[in-house]
Amino acid sequence: SSGVERGAAGALTVAGVDVRDLAAEHGTPAYVLDEADFRRRARAYRTAFEAAFGAVGTGVDVYYAGKALLTVAVARWAREEGLRVDTASGGELAVALRAQVPGAEIGLHGNNKSDAEILRALDAGVGRIIVDSLVEIERVAQLAAGRGVVAPVMVRVTTGVHAGGHEYIATAHEDQKFGLSVNTSSGETSPAMTALLAVLERPELRLLGIHSHIGSQILDPDGFEAAASVVLRLRADLAERSGVLVDEVDLGGGYGIAYLPGDVALDPERVAKDIAQSVAGVCQELGTSLPRFSIEPGRAIVGPAGLTLYTVGTVKPVTVAGESGDFVRLYVSVDGGMSDNIRPALYGAAYHAEVVGRTSAAEPVLARVVGKHCESGDIVVHEVQLPGDVRAGDLLAVAATGAYGRSMASNYNMLPRPPVLAVTDGAARVLVRRETEDDLLGLDQG
Ligand code: LLP
Repeated sequence: SSGVERGAAGALTVAGVDVRDLAAEHGTPAYVLDEADFRRRARAYRTAFEAAFGAVGTGVDVYYAGKALLTVAVARWAREEGLRVDTASGGELAVALRAQVPGAEIGLHGNNKSDAEILRALDAGVGRIIVDSLVEIERVAQLAAGRGVVAPVMVRVTTGVHAGGHEYIATAHEDQKFGLSVNTSSGETSPAMTALLAVLERPELRLLGIHSHIGSQILDPDGFEAAASVVLRLRADLAERSGVLVDEVDLGGGYGIAYLPGDVALDPERVAKDIAQSVAGVCQELGTSLPRFSIEPGRAIVGPAGLTLYTVGTVKPVTVAGESGDFVRLYVSVDGGMSDNIRPALYGAAYHAEVVGRTSAAEPVLARVVGKHCESGDIVVHEVQLPGDVRAGDLLAVAATGAYGRSMASNYNMLPRPPVLAVTDGAARVLVRRETEDDLLGLDQG
């Protein structure tokens, strides 16, 4: 069995396991992953993109963006479903390598990679290093020369296409740290073109292609098509200037998911078809052959596969002065908060919460789920209807926390980070154990 289901007496099961049993055995807060759901999403993205790009005559590789959530088991699942792994630091690279993902199937990103990270990537024989600046091109070339290897690189470019959610996660606009702009307004040669030509000049570097990531939580496929078109034009311009038509184009991640009950996620089949047809049209117009493509979804694979379990503590009605009179908002405190999910505080992200494991005949009331941290912005769910008799000891489940929950977790207020549990066919296991106070104090040298 797999999936999240409501059963008798308000029971919530994940892959056949009652979350009350998970809470009793592992405590709360806890991140719970549905392995089969993760695998299904990984497969859905791979097969949808393979079919759509195959139909227009080219291939595609799907890289799982490990920044969304990377554990050894998760990296293994991705690989077993035919995905490669995209990493953004030496630490993520270390997890992928420990999961025995072959170096050739790993990519390394980062706008400020250290020499140690670059060397580790070269030594692991990573399939691609995505370079992000002229100085980095020089450094990778020198480090590769020192190792006597040729580094496979892609150049990350900024297409000027605006897409995605919050400003902090939109990456294609000009005034931010990522990528090299395709904009030629400052002269004949854009920073992106300058970088591509610089890579071609270095014998220690092999130019695989061009990379573009336009943002995250994108729900309109037009942005991907617009960015792809800009990248394909740059590819054709580069061919004209240098005689080299690069083989690969990566369109990044950013495929949006449903967070709230009425939300509609991007459909991988539709978006794959739209992008494939669009890039085929652009290449035809440009008179160039189609490159091989790759994409880097993170959230869309792991986000919906995870939920967070909390236990309710203090419940406090607060009278709020509203425009049309006073109203009561029920503040429902849980045993975690912004340390296990920073997204509401950082991006104003919306989530849905439910009391699970019991039924209630009480009228629903307007509630706000808050954490236990020492600041008022420590909000888990801004606004949700919960049963009016919600009380201490209740179990609360927050859906769609699989992506960027654990991976962005902190120890604020010295809270140990929750475990990551995986449920598969009616059995749960610990992927990452709960931190202890000893773990935290062990770092403190007095
Ligand atoms: N590829 C690159 C180069 C990226 O920078 C990212 C995300 C991805 C792939 C994966 O994007 P996804 O498919 O997961 O949207 N912490 C934010 C999201 C930041 C994403 C940064 N880069 C959040 O919690 O929404």
